[in-house]
Amino acid sequence: MLSLGVVLVAGMAQSQAREGRLLRLDPDARLAPDQRTAALAAGRRVFRAQCAGCHGPDGRGDTGYGAPNLADRDWLYGTGAVGEIEQTIAYGIRSHQPKGWNLADMPAFGAPRPSAKERLDPLSPGDIGDVIAFLSARRGATASAEAVARGRAIYQGRGGCYDCHGGDAAGDPAIGAPNLIDAVWLYGDGSPPSVFRSIAQGRRGVMPGFAGRLSAVQLRQVSLYVKSLSEAP
Ligand code: HEC
Ligand code: HEC
Repeated sequence: MLSLGVVLVAGMAQSQAREGRLLRLDPDARLAPDQRTAALAAGRRVFRAQCAGCHGPDGRGDTGYGAPNLADRDWLYGTGAVGEIEQTIAYGIRSHQPKGWNLADMPAFGAPRPSAKERLDPLSPGDIGDVIAFLSARRGATASAEAVARGRAIYQGRGGCYDCHGGDAAGDPAIGAPNLIDAVWLYGDGSPPSVFRSIAQGRRGVMPGFAGRLSAVQLRQVSLYVKSLSEAP
């Protein structure tokens, strides 16, 4: 009995020491193979229990709900460094936590006052159609030249789109404004009706913060696991 207890305590001390070592490392440091295997296995368990409900069991997200695919190389926030991923997981997005990401929402341009903060005026359904034509043309699709010209003027002018999504419409990872000219969509399938819905009704996806719910080492393990999903071939 006594010796079993000694073995258990020794095992716990060993795994605590291993976790302590993991936390002392730079989040993006290269791990020793056995350390990495243990961290990813633990991270996967956390992911299955806490994250899969929104991001899916394989992390591929849900465009019906606006939960991003975590298994691609496209990041809404930051550049995909483990430290940045950990920051998002710890404090969330629009989560009402002071350290969470909370710099911009997608205004509802179909509403009478799309955004008081940004002082933007509403757009008519025709205006929104023109902006969609402009964006489709930027992605290489054919669209009416007149609609594209009108849409460009709205994008770069009174729509204020450029201010958040960038003059080139390639997005801004400092505020979580998605790229609008790639093949990755946060909401819907990128078809004109689904893009129309984003522009007319606005979007403000919420990612809860896990700082109080997961331990420091669990946060690191699940961040490493998320990073590994994006690195799979
Ligand atoms: C209640 C649903 C929900 C849960 C649970 C959830 N997420 Fe999220 N997560 C979201 C949404 C929605 C977004 C996108 C928010 C936005 O629109 O900016 C997001 C964004 C993220 C991002 C940013 C991705 C990027 O491209 O920058 C990461 C990383 C992430 N989640 C990881 C996790 C992990 C890990 C867990 C579990 C510990 C988790 N999430 C649990 C809904 C959720
Ligand atoms: C104040 C900043 C801001 C402005 C202005 C703005 N957007 Fe957005 N937009 C965002 C943010 C932030 C998101 C992501 C919302 C989320 O994560 O839930 C977004 C999301 C979107 C989406 C969904 C993209 C996807 O991948 O599903 C589309 C489409 C879009 N915006 C188009 C536009 C157009 C067109 C305009 C101008 C008429 C515009 N936005 C103006 C910040 C802005």
